[in-house]
Amino acid sequence: MPARHIAVIGTGYVGLTTGACLASLGHHVVCADADPHKVGRLRQAQVDILEPGLPELVAEGLDSGRLSFVQDSAGAAADADTVFLCLPTPMGAGGAADLAAVESVAAEIRSVLPEGCAVVNKSTVPVGTAERVAELLGRPDTTVVSNPEFLREGRAVHDFLHPDRIVVGADAPDAAEHVAGLYAALEAPVVLTDTASAELTKYAANFFLAMKLSFANNLATVCERFDADIAAVTVGIGHDPRIGGAFLQPGPGWGGSCLPKDTHALLTVCEQAGVEFPLLRATIETNVEHQRQLVERVAAGCAGPDGSLRGVRLALLGLAFKAGTSDLRDSPALAIARQLRERGAELYAYDPALSDTRPDLSDLLTLVDDPAQAAAGAAGCVVLTEWPQFHDLDWNAIARQLHRPIVYDFRNFLDPGRLAEAGLAWQGIGRTLSMTG
Ligand code: UDX
Repeated sequence: MPARHIAVIGTGYVGLTTGACLASLGHHVVCADADPHKVGRLRQAQVDILEPGLPELVAEGLDSGRLSFVQDSAGAAADADTVFLCLPTPMGAGGAADLAAVESVAAEIRSVLPEGCAVVNKSTVPVGTAERVAELLGRPDTTVVSNPEFLREGRAVHDFLHPDRIVVGADAPDAAEHVAGLYAALEAPVVLTDTASAELTKYAANFFLAMKLSFANNLATVCERFDADIAAVTVGIGHDPRIGGAFLQPGPGWGGSCLPKDTHALLTVCEQAGVEFPLLRATIETNVEHQRQLVERVAAGCAGPDGSLRGVRLALLGLAFKAGTSDLRDSPALAIARQLRERGAELYAYDPALSDTRPDLSDLLTLVDDPAQAAAGAAGCVVLTEWPQFHDLDWNAIARQLHRPIVYDFRNFLDPGRLAEAGLAWQGIGRTLSMTG
């Protein structure tokens, strides 16, 4: 496939990853963003999002001249044979996706798009958006294509360059082949379909992942009831390739900027279309109930003299929605922290990814720079994000600080033996100390 001229509108973690990776495949890419500060920093190869490999790819693209950054979306689109829309589609009122950014950019570029241009929806958009964008563009000589991303935060470059599959939805075969051809160097399986199927594929993938997680978390509760070990059960079922062992690690619930938004958006669009989706509703409700049960467990184990958490100090280790990112959007750790706070607990939290950014969470908790500082005088410690460095903390120092020597490991990932050596009682999810070997 010859090198193409590509415009990428929006330089968030999807847009910037898409632009930098397509440039690394040999294409000429112009990334546009409305934020002049962001464009200025990107022109200096200053990448503000935590994505391993991305700064290097941006620098490489700039040096080769294949990657550039502008503010002007129309200017970028005017010279492109392919325009990727990588725009925020936040959860709007009632859970539906807010398409304001997509609609605004479509209006901006409609008059300059070259004849035959492919306009590609990369961000997750509701089923039917490709048709909507085509209406907004009003350019029958162009084609709107759905090419959903399947990028995990913290692994976006890896996932882009090593895709399990490329999904391309288009109602014009030549446009589909054109977009699929951009990825030819990756030699990944290509699924060519219509736009609605491609759009729904993205939601179905994220729904299934969320369902698998709710299954694992719910199963952990069942294991507790029958004194079984969730780790053994998930390994036991994971050997069946129809099930697979990935994404069965119990945790504080699933969160992030995608799974919650996408599951709610899918449920909303189904409700609006009068389609029942009880499994989707149960997946969401199970996540909420799982977090409530974990809060209940901490409340019972760390209660003060009056039996409540009022005035009780708790240490939280980890606030990011998962390890490897500083992203707090829909973080399950914050969901649990809010419920503990609502019960009157005084929360002191440490997260290694927040030491620099220090977001203002003062209405919820006190951010501290050291796990032992968080533990000072606390009636218990709750681990909510699976930061690898938590394995090697000075658990003796933490034990000395804790008023009550208990650690709730809501990621089942610490070494209970190591904690026991420090005199700490480990409490996991769906498994007991005796099962941990
Ligand atoms: C997700 C999808 O994985 C990705 O394919 C899609 O393109 C975007 O949404 P991401 O939002 O980065 O990616 O999060 P992911 O890595 O999927 O984790 C989602 C949540 O599930 C996190 O809170 C994580 O901690 C939790 N999780 C994940 C578990 O609790 N257990 C697991 O085994 C895996």
